[in-house]
Amino acid sequence: MVEKKPGLYLDPGEKVGLTMALTMLVVFFALIVYAAKGLKIDVPTCITDVEPFQTGKLIKHSDKRYELHILARMWLFDFNQGATEIKIPAGSVVDIFVTSKDVVHGVHINNTNFNLMAIPGTVGYMRVKFEHPGVYHVVCHEFCGVGHHAMQGKIIVH
Ligand code: CUA
Repeated sequence: MVEKKPGLYLDPGEKVGLTMALTMLVVFFALIVYAAKGLKIDVPTCITDVEPFQTGKLIKHSDKRYELHILARMWLFDFNQGATEIKIPAGSVVDIFVTSKDVVHGVHINNTNFNLMAIPGTVGYMRVKFEHPGVYHVVCHEFCGVGHHAMQGKIIVH
């Protein structure tokens, strides 16, 4: 009779499986670091330095760099001092912050990856580059009351 040594016994198949799983974890982590640092892809976040705001604001940092504070409220998107439409030049990189004044709204900018919730008391963030001219419709995709269907805005890229 073969006596097993005390301690952890791993089947050779288990060793292969664990090695593959650990290798995949390392590869995935490396890819995340590469995407963030190498490709400079920003991951959307709800942890920002910006305090929840009470009015929309478009801040121009340079010709192609903007900061947009979107205030969602029943039932419109305030992009800039109450304006529901803004114009920016093609090729602009826009740091977009979003919050809500009342209930939870959803914010989706058509033809971009921007899709965040607007939650009272928190500020969501994502960076968007508007490469192509056109009208980018901003719609609410979270039911927020009787005016939900009409809650929309426009980002005009010229
Ligand atoms: Cu705001 Cu639906």
